[in-house]
Amino acid sequence: MTSREPILANLSFHDYQPPEADIAREVLAGLRREQPGLHPKFLYDAHGSRLFEGITRQPEYYPTATEEALLRAKAPELAERVPGDALLAEPGAGNCEKARLLLEHWQPRGYMPIEISRDELLWASRELARDFPHLAIHAVCADYTRPIYWPDETPPPRMVFFPGSTLGNFEPAERGPFLQRLRELAGDGGQLLLGADLHKDSAVLNAAYNDAAGYTAAFNLNMLDHLNQVLNAGFERDAFEHQAFYNEHARRVEMHLRCHRDQQLQINGETIKLSAGNSIHTENSYKFTRPELESLLEQAGFTVDTWWEDPNKAFSLCLANAA
Ligand code: AVJ
Repeated sequence: MTSREPILANLSFHDYQPPEADIAREVLAGLRREQPGLHPKFLYDAHGSRLFEGITRQPEYYPTATEEALLRAKAPELAERVPGDALLAEPGAGNCEKARLLLEHWQPRGYMPIEISRDELLWASRELARDFPHLAIHAVCADYTRPIYWPDETPPPRMVFFPGSTLGNFEPAERGPFLQRLRELAGDGGQLLLGADLHKDSAVLNAAYNDAAGYTAAFNLNMLDHLNQVLNAGFERDAFEHQAFYNEHARRVEMHLRCHRDQQLQINGETIKLSAGNSIHTENSYKFTRPELESLLEQAGFTVDTWWEDPNKAFSLCLANAA
């Protein structure tokens, strides 16, 4: 269902937020697995989005600063390679800060941020609408891991902006189908600008996901507060501990919430038990290599146009054409 609240003249809002019953079902299924797990999208309520921003400012968390420096340096060159009639679409736009770096150099036909946290989306798109009064903004509140019918006024070609290495949250088997959906979102003549974190020394990665100030721990634990708020699940936050480590073999950083006191949870009238010593797996952040990314993109129907990386080869930006 689409509800439209014209908030500012250049801003429209499209609400496809998943209903509570869907969330409860998904959470129940996740907690019942042999290795209990919850999808990382549940990290992002309004407070979780704030905590994530805190993470991006920590000295150990290099991806954001590295990617923003690349975007700043390459935006003018990029602007020349993007068709002027493209609409900028950004799944997981968060606070829309990265899109600003592009919008300062390039005027797309419109901007469509897609974000699961409704509060975050409303706040960020209003700020943007004020700062860019000539930009048409089509804010979409949705879980972009599910199929979505895009608003009529946002037809292709689209420049799909998928920064932050969020692709790393997808399992290897899900990547191909997801990139194919981004290819459909781009449409013929569209493009993808993909930011991805590269495989590197474990020590650097372990530090990045265990910052000394404790933002990552708070971000991980906030998932429990968020689900308590939405589902009244009854997680006792102080019975859990943040854990993150690079699994070199699988080439992914794993985040877990380790439980050290038995928990009895109530979700949708059903009871779930977690025992001390169990963990809930809350996120995988896969790290990539250049050949791997290039072949993933080609297989999904893109042609790689330009590859940029920082001098330390820590992070990559790749522009690909939906030929
Ligand atoms: C936004 C998913 C790319 O995996 O690095 C940061 C989220 N998790 N610290 C990442 C995150 C823990 C981030 N992504």
